[in-house]
Amino acid sequence: MTSTTPSVQDKSDKDRVIIFDTTLRDGEQCPGATMTFEEKLEIAAMLDTMGVDVIEAGFPIASDGDFEAVNEIAKRTKNAVVCGLSRAGQKDIDRCAEAIRPAKRGRIHSFLSTSPVHMKYKLQMEPDAVHDLVISSVTRARNHTDDVEWSSEDGTRTEFDFLCRCVESAIKAGATTINIPDTVGYSVPEEYYDLFKRVRENVPNSDKAIFSVHCHNDLGMAVANSMAGIRGGARQIECTINGIGERAGNAALEEIVMAMKVRNDKLPYWNNIDTTMLMRASKEVSAATSFPVQYNKAIVGRNAFAHESGIHQDGMLKNAQTYEIMLPETVGVKQTSLVMGKHSGRHAFIHKLEEMGYKLGQNQLEDAFVRFKALADRKKDIYDEDLEALVDQEMTAAHDRIKLVSLTVIAGTHGPQRATMKLNVDGVVKIEEAEGNGPVDAVFNCIKALVPHEAKLELYQVHAVTEGTDAQAEVSVRLAHEGRSMTSRAADPDTLVASAKAYLGGLNKIVMKRARDMPAAVAAAS
Ligand code: KIV
Ligand code: ZN
Repeated sequence: MTSTTPSVQDKSDKDRVIIFDTTLRDGEQCPGATMTFEEKLEIAAMLDTMGVDVIEAGFPIASDGDFEAVNEIAKRTKNAVVCGLSRAGQKDIDRCAEAIRPAKRGRIHSFLSTSPVHMKYKLQMEPDAVHDLVISSVTRARNHTDDVEWSSEDGTRTEFDFLCRCVESAIKAGATTINIPDTVGYSVPEEYYDLFKRVRENVPNSDKAIFSVHCHNDLGMAVANSMAGIRGGARQIECTINGIGERAGNAALEEIVMAMKVRNDKLPYWNNIDTTMLMRASKEVSAATSFPVQYNKAIVGRNAFAHESGIHQDGMLKNAQTYEIMLPETVGVKQTSLVMGKHSGRHAFIHKLEEMGYKLGQNQLEDAFVRFKALADRKKDIYDEDLEALVDQEMTAAHDRIKLVSLTVIAGTHGPQRATMKLNVDGVVKIEEAEGNGPVDAVFNCIKALVPHEAKLELYQVHAVTEGTDAQAEVSVRLAHEGRSMTSRAADPDTLVASAKAYLGGLNKIVMKRARDMPAAVAAAS
């Protein structure tokens, strides 16, 4: 395959694009994608290793849990700039500054709405007052650190002259990065290109700051718009792994990075990302958020390198370039030949997981291997999807405080259905029986009796991971608690066990979040 990646001597600083990852902030902000403290630390470490330039680690004023996550990531991150988000108020900025203080390189990212509709209805402020607040907020942030980013929220629906006025003042007050977000995913590539070009031409001090794109995907154009903004002179892209984020999500990091690599002839820019880690990053974020990756998702979807039709398979066998524009290895997908079953050993298991893009710690590996053996005893053929479900669960459950010990359910035509469940809650084993209107209801009633809580079940979904009557059932649940939604997934050949584990996964997230937000909180999410 011909490589279009620029050689080192072709790489000039002017074409270098800064990759700003906001999975832990804008990504986590989307309904149901809440991550635990430990998951955030793991993801931040992975992003740092992968070569992300700036990690937006959270919104410190939002909660004590967010503050602690940003603060800990700031302490641990070795290479990347660690950034915290803040609104324009003094308390927000000071809290953000405190959170990022331990970072080798820390950034305050302050934002303020500038569009007529946001100023009138959301801020209820006149443009002059907004402009004054831009200056005072950036000045305050600059007193804490010399790396300050200012964002004009709803920038693409802002009046051009007012946008230029705010951008000029933000730079004068000390902003070193200027972000013009397409907050509502409304722009189209030509328009976004034009916006950056014109703002940079019109703002007299524009050469004193790096311009940044931040695109939402409401019309499916987030990646195209981001690249258009780069063509218009921006040199930072704000994006998330798997494209998770508010509503339809943000521009997907893996798509942006691979677009620049594969089509470097048309997109002659470069970045520092190790693309062979893209699949692993996708899996880690999917496991932590319990957000499944769409099968046909570009770059990291299960089908991105799968060929089903006879004509395509024939072409692939003759030459992979017939139907593949990039080698799977480039994004961390290895072509595999190993078939897993109950005779497979630890070595083959580890090798297989590595081929699939997973990298687990020693304890997680051991636990996953034990569970793989148990599954292989119950299920004849173990497909990649089975392993994926098993490992995702292992990664999510690593820090669980509530664990399922056993479950027995009596179901059938003569109700009421009855469940008996044993749970280990912070090391204490408790047992309870409950009836329900159906077996799933009985299982969930047992959980409610064992761990009293006020979370409401918003969604319950079951699907088969593979085919056949011995297929694993994968259950997704979404629990709503204190205005936030937590999604959790679990798989098991027994649908009721998978249901219990998925529900408990959601409760574990709530318990962990509470304990972080209020360190003295009791274990149960009451
Ligand atoms: O979409 C947006 O406008 C944002 C800002 C806070 C940068 O996420
Ligand atoms: Zn956003």
